[in-house]
Amino acid sequence: NETLRDAAARRGIFVGSAINYWDLQKDAAYARLAAAQYNLGTAENSCKFAATEGQPGSFNVSDCTSVLNFAHEHGMTFRAHNLIWGRSNPDWLVNGSYSPANLSTLEGTHIQHVVADVGKRPYCWDVVNEAIADDSDNSSTLFKAADPWYPAVEDYVYKAFAEAHAAAPSSIKLFYNDYGAEGTGAKASRVIQLVKNLQQKNIRIDGIGLQMHVSTGYYPSFDSVSANIKALGDLGLEVHITEMDVKCPTCNTTQGLEQQAAIYGGMLKACLDNDNCRSFETWGFTDKYTWLDQDTYPLPFDKNLQPKPAVAELLSIL
Ligand code: XIL
Repeated sequence: NETLRDAAARRGIFVGSAINYWDLQKDAAYARLAAAQYNLGTAENSCKFAATEGQPGSFNVSDCTSVLNFAHEHGMTFRAHNLIWGRSNPDWLVNGSYSPANLSTLEGTHIQHVVADVGKRPYCWDVVNEAIADDSDNSSTLFKAADPWYPAVEDYVYKAFAEAHAAAPSSIKLFYNDYGAEGTGAKASRVIQLVKNLQQKNIRIDGIGLQMHVSTGYYPSFDSVSANIKALGDLGLEVHITEMDVKCPTCNTTQGLEQQAAIYGGMLKACLDNDNCRSFETWGFTDKYTWLDQDTYPLPFDKNLQPKPAVAELLSIL
């Protein structure tokens, strides 16, 4: 049987998954399947702020680079995720009652150290995660509240990209990553506005990560995802599908599994439609380990690490 990674390599794209540091330590079959099927990996949590700066000014990227090393040992490309986000932050940062000026300094220091310590090996960094106002927000600002960064540090997104550019070798691509901006709409337009603002300020941004956390009950149309990827390409940006999962409460039935497979396939096809879409990644790969409720069966392999219909569908499209 052909693997996802061999099929993807033939098409010249990455097929990837989030990889969990702890599951990697304890579950050899999980590690084997990740290495066998994927040519790109992302640490699910180990490169985030709470994991890399557990105490102020004390940096430790060893869990992050451990997942990176696993990826490289198996010939996988590594996406580093993420530098600045309103979640997965350490208590000292969230509860510290820092002034805006102090927060701005903490932001810069974190980026400088983590980017330097992880080094030149990642393919890209998700510099900022989930900063933009949602479709449901009736927002006059591009950004939404993000603890502790916004609104305290008004320019925190621009600052993050400028700091990442200063700290990173030019080979590392700088990405903005978000959910809910996969298809065209208010949030996708705000992402495009952010890109234009960065470009106008001469601050480097190389790509957009579209998370793609969807469900059989709701997902953007494949055409609108394809059109959005194209619009981002017109601005010179690479696009990655970064965190796809498809919640499927009926995936204990054949019909549910086929519906889920079709959604995975349609999104892969929307990516392959566009030359600038270079990576198709799921947020985990087995229903044994998912950040979502286990009874939503969101991932392409089942709890016994066996391929679900989604895998055959992805292979048929690659
Ligand atoms: C999630 C992890 O999967 C969980 O283990 C953790 O508790 C919280 O973060 N969007 C993202 C990812 O960008 O980093 C999130 O990962 C899922 C939503």
